[in-house]
Amino acid sequence: MAYKELFLSLLVVTYVNAQYKVCVLRSDTSTCQNLDKDGSEVECVGVETRLDCAIKLARGEANFGAFSEEELLVLGQMQLPDVQVVATIRSTEKQDVQYAFEAVTVVPNNHSGGLEGLRGGRYCHPGLDSPDLRWSPRVLKALELSAARSDRCPGATTDFKTAEELEVEELSKFFSAACRPGPWSYNTTVDADLKSRYSSLCSMCEDGRCTGYSTASVVNVAGVNNNNRHIQALDCLVTNGTVAFAAWQHVQEFFLKRNPQHVDAYSLLCPNGSLQPLSIDVLGQVVSPCATVRQPWRAIVASSLTASEINSKLNIWWTDGTDPGSGSWQSALYQSLVGGSNFRVVGESLTTPLNYSSQIRPLDIATSAACLTPRRWCTISALETTKCQWTAAAAYTLGIQPTISCERRNGVFDCLNDIKEGKADFSSVDSHYGFLARQHYRLSPVKLVQNTRTSASRVAAFVKETSAQANITRFENLRDKVACFPEFGGIAYVSFVRAAHERQVVSPSECDYARAVGEFFSGACAPGATDAAHTVYEDSSFNASSLCSACRSSSSANSSISEYTCAWDNTNLYFGNNGSLLCLADPATDVVFVETENIAAQLSALQLNPNNYRALCRNNTLAASTGVNIDDGCLLAYVVDAEVLTRRNDPVANSVNTLFDTLDKFFGYNPNTQLINLRLYSPFDSTSDLLFKDTTIGITEPSSTANHEPARNYIELFRHLESCTGAATPLPAPGLAVRTVFSIVTLLISLFMSRAIF
Ligand SMILES: *[C@@H]1O[C@H](CO)[C@@H](O)[C@H](O)[C@H]1NC(C)=O
Ligand SMILES: *[C@@H]1O[C@H](CO)[C@@H](O)[C@H](O)[C@H]1NC(C)=O
Ligand SMILES: *[C@@H]1O[C@H](CO)[C@@H](O)[C@H](O)[C@H]1NC(C)=O
Ligand SMILES: *[C@@H]1O[C@H](CO)[C@@H](O)[C@H](O)[C@H]1NC(C)=O
Ligand SMILES: *[C@@H]1O[C@H](CO)[C@@H](O)[C@H](O)[C@H]1NC(C)=O
Ligand SMILES: *[C@@H]1O[C@H](CO)[C@@H](O)[C@H](O)[C@H]1NC(C)=O
Ligand SMILES: *[C@@H]1O[C@H](CO)[C@@H](O)[C@H](O)[C@H]1NC(C)=O
Ligand SMILES: *[C@@H]1O[C@H](CO)[C@@H](O)[C@H](O)[C@H]1NC(C)=O
Ligand SMILES: *[C@@H]1O[C@H](CO)[C@@H](O)[C@H](O)[C@H]1NC(C)=O
Ligand SMILES: *[C@@H]1O[C@H](CO)[C@@H](O)[C@H](O)[C@H]1NC(C)=O
Repeated sequence: MAYKELFLSLLVVTYVNAQYKVCVLRSDTSTCQNLDKDGSEVECVGVETRLDCAIKLARGEANFGAFSEEELLVLGQMQLPDVQVVATIRSTEKQDVQYAFEAVTVVPNNHSGGLEGLRGGRYCHPGLDSPDLRWSPRVLKALELSAARSDRCPGATTDFKTAEELEVEELSKFFSAACRPGPWSYNTTVDADLKSRYSSLCSMCEDGRCTGYSTASVVNVAGVNNNNRHIQALDCLVTNGTVAFAAWQHVQEFFLKRNPQHVDAYSLLCPNGSLQPLSIDVLGQVVSPCATVRQPWRAIVASSLTASEINSKLNIWWTDGTDPGSGSWQSALYQSLVGGSNFRVVGESLTTPLNYSSQIRPLDIATSAACLTPRRWCTISALETTKCQWTAAAAYTLGIQPTISCERRNGVFDCLNDIKEGKADFSSVDSHYGFLARQHYRLSPVKLVQNTRTSASRVAAFVKETSAQANITRFENLRDKVACFPEFGGIAYVSFVRAAHERQVVSPSECDYARAVGEFFSGACAPGATDAAHTVYEDSSFNASSLCSACRSSSSANSSISEYTCAWDNTNLYFGNNGSLLCLADPATDVVFVETENIAAQLSALQLNPNNYRALCRNNTLAASTGVNIDDGCLLAYVVDAEVLTRRNDPVANSVNTLFDTLDKFFGYNPNTQLINLRLYSPFDSTSDLLFKDTTIGITEPSSTANHEPARNYIELFRHLESCTGAATPLPAPGLAVRTVFSIVTLLISLFMSRAIF
């Protein structure tokens, strides 16, 4: 007992003197300085995103932070321990209401049969792109989910279908006509296709197209915005609809100010199927009689240990829950957590985020009862799995389909293999492994990433300056020399294969790219060449151990006799990009094929002088100067650095494809105000390159017509590599005449194969 009291008093003493740590987004640059002013009690902890803040709160590395409405639901989904809601942030005009908004269902008074009674009806919707009120897709589709069960599809065939198609298919069976504007899919092709095939769901819009409602015949009334889609949906209801879904505040505006003559003809349809007739009195109430969805306010959340202190401190720092102003640190804190003057902070009795949000908006913990089974994302580290789980919870909270589940494996090859075997569905994979993934694991891309200009994957060939000055000036000179590659079958390896085909030094009819390279060079270090996971050609009869003849085991680093190794880890001194640079420094080797990202730093770490090397360009000339800064025209490949892969021709592929369009929309770098502050392409919990590399800026289609140049190049590279059929005659001794024959053969092959599928 005595110990406990001592401990407690120590705690109190500590906290009285210590500062409270508040999460501040790194993008918010001035707040941290202002929080150090004038004897401030608060100190800033920079976070990448607000979800990172939640993780810090749970670990006690920060004391409090602010979260959006939808983020609170995510915290509930994750059942994050040791954090509590201490105050809500309400808009001034609705500060006595419990809810940020209410979404209600309005029907004519003669409606009968509850939710099921809506079947066959005419549905007026504010639009999936309605920017008003920060409605998530789950909110926007709440009536559809409860009445039409649009997330269930008994008897429907789901193979090759997207979640969007299944949803619209169910809706079109349920409603006879509708106006449901906005994107039905964030994949524009799918969206256009669905709009044309299920046009009854647009038939009540202007011109029967889902771009929006007609406003031509609408009269103007002061205080009512005719361009507001909720008002337009209610107009649609009273014109010719049988049900409208809209925000309570707009229902009030519409019936009180615009169309008082209709008030007595309409009711709210409650979730339990009962009707609540509208009247001037009812419409005068700030809270609706019943709502399809009610949204909890955004809130300030604190770590449990300091929650009650923060709760009482907020009262002191911000009198009446308002901004104290006058440039004080308290004001800076208010501006950062709460925002402008339209808000008011209301203290709450401490409770968990789940408890807080579920009393207002209960949300099942991610359920698998949906049209599509959860799609399994293969991850390769504990932190990556965690980021995946947060992404899955955030996507589920927003109502994104299909749901995501997270699989944990030990490495990229385990993922490739388990996707192949149907034990996982997709993964974002380094383009380094693109060829192996296609060739050995039979996977195919659903999306490619887009990279920042400086970060795409660039492959170059370098020779020693001494040989460049003597006898290696062209690809032809590399025959019977010794080559270094970071890894067998990797992007640098296959980029060389293509360059060698183009330069006609390796036969394009040799489809076994181990043999093609192995027989061209007299020796090589291509780590992994003898490993089964790195198979580039099934049933190869070529003994690939010669492709590791130049490797060095790190245990024999100091001795002059090298022990044979073909390992593809750091026990092989020449493994990886930096290892292959060290390999080129070996007097026994002649050429290296590497990725150029960070190459200057890697050389300097190895204490190698870049000016001892010169690039051999794809057009078969030596670079004009020595060193590793080369222009893009000299590269053997300039391609994206990652892609999302699934099984080839698998029934899940289309749904994964459009899932990524949706994830990119909500968690990518789109200029939207995020409902949930999670960044799929940014560091998570202070760790880079989880799920996607930090170099990712977006996604694009795996198509040779993509707008992103590295993406087009990547597809072209594989189009070339996969066009090998073995149909041409083998390469005879090099000679001018033969070269011409090759050109023709290559041309014929590429014409013949130009319809190759990836
Ligand atoms: C409800 O009333 C409207 C007119 O107010 C009428 O057109 C419609 O047929 C009625 N529906 C039912 C189910 O009685
Ligand atoms: C949309 O999805 C389909 C697969 O369902 C895909 O083929 C297409 O390229 C995607 N992208 C766009 C921009 O339409
Ligand atoms: C109302 O909807 C019905 C059914 O879709 C249609 O036949 C009728 O022409 C519509 N009336 C008006 C005034 O738009
Ligand atoms: C249905 O819900 C409304 C609003 O919450 C409530 O007033 C009504 O009593 C409920 N009716 C039944 C039958 O439970
Ligand atoms: C959750 O809320 C209920 C009802 O308000 C309360 O009894 C319970 O103690 C709360 N649980 C927690 C963990 O705060
Ligand atoms: C290439 O030149 C180097 C240095 O001049 C010489 O040692 C080597 O024998 C030459 N190799 C061939 C194959 O000509
Ligand atoms: C491949 O060659 C190496 C070295 O020449 C030899 O030790 C090995 O037994 C060969 N492997 C096969 C499968 O022939
Ligand atoms: C190689 O030599 C370095 C220093 O010269 C030494 O630190 C290292 O332990 C040696 N490695 C082996 C495997 O003997
Ligand atoms: C290359 O880099 C890796 C990771 O940074 C390191 O473990 C390895 O020792 C490096 N290899 C060489 C040859 O320096
Ligand atoms: C080959 O490519 C390099 C690098 O882009 C360029 O500088 C050079 O002019 C090209 N040479 C020829 C003959 O096209």
